[in-house]
Amino acid sequence: MSEQQYGTVVVTGANRGIGLEFARRLAPESRRLLACCRQPDEAEALLSLASANDSVEIVRLDVTSDADIDALAGALDGEPVDLLLNNAGIYGPRGRPPLDHAGWHEVLSVNTMAPLRVAGALLDNVAASDRRLVANVTSKMGSIGDNAGGGAYVYRSSKAALNAVMVSLARDTADRGVTVLLLHPGWVQTDMGGPNALIDVETSVSGMKAIIDRATTADSGCYFDYDGSRIPW
Ligand SMILES: NC(=O)c1ccc[n+]([C@@H]2O[C@H](COP(=O)([O-])OP(=O)(O)OC[C@H]3O[C@@H](n4cnc5c(N)ncnc54)[C@H](OP(=O)(O)O)[C@@H]3O)[C@@H](O)[C@H]2O)c1
Repeated sequence: MSEQQYGTVVVTGANRGIGLEFARRLAPESRRLLACCRQPDEAEALLSLASANDSVEIVRLDVTSDADIDALAGALDGEPVDLLLNNAGIYGPRGRPPLDHAGWHEVLSVNTMAPLRVAGALLDNVAASDRRLVANVTSKMGSIGDNAGGGAYVYRSSKAALNAVMVSLARDTADRGVTVLLLHPGWVQTDMGGPNALIDVETSVSGMKAIIDRATTADSGCYFDYDGSRIPW
């Protein structure tokens, strides 16, 4: 693919981990990259990226904040968005029932409700673009068919629900030519994945980005592993 294959791109949770690697990879390929994070003043890696790439703008976005989401949509002011990348996520409370219900609610808010809220707020921008892509970083832990190991009630339920709402969004936006993707990054060496994870962020993002780069409307509502294979629901 040529340089600058994307116009405007929005990445959530862009200050570290998988989101930061996506920002690094997309910066030279995007005309305008809105790298969203909760604490722009403390996002040192993003500040370095922005100083090396004119395309990068750092935007404050707590994905659970309606005010932040409204401000992002207002700043875009109808500008087409080729790619919305819903990446921000948390793991939340571990263990078996009885569960920490306040913690569970927070995980559902960040991992499930926020991606749909952001997508809803930017839907007209995405639908007005050339590429019309909404890519969601989900997890194989959200697969019910693949759940041989049990446990992880909170995280699994949040990603299974993310999959469910994004398949509905895929169906509901098909007539506007929007492509909604569900991408499992693998088990990745980040703060969330830990040092024993199987792959590095470069490998994970290379795989997911290749899926995004070649995505068509035929892929909308599909659940992909980072290597391009399909994951059972
Ligand atoms: N690593 C893995 O093995 C793995 C496997 C499957 C799926 N995933 C998914 O991949 C995505 C990225 O995970 P990661 O491994 O890169 O995790 P990470 O290193 O822990 O980074 C998480 C990112 O999400 C941001 N975030 C959390 N809550 C937020 C909020 N309320 N508003 C805005 N940003 C928020 C964090 O920002 P702060 O710095 O402000 O906290 C950070 O940028 C997540 O959706 C995760 O569920 C990861």
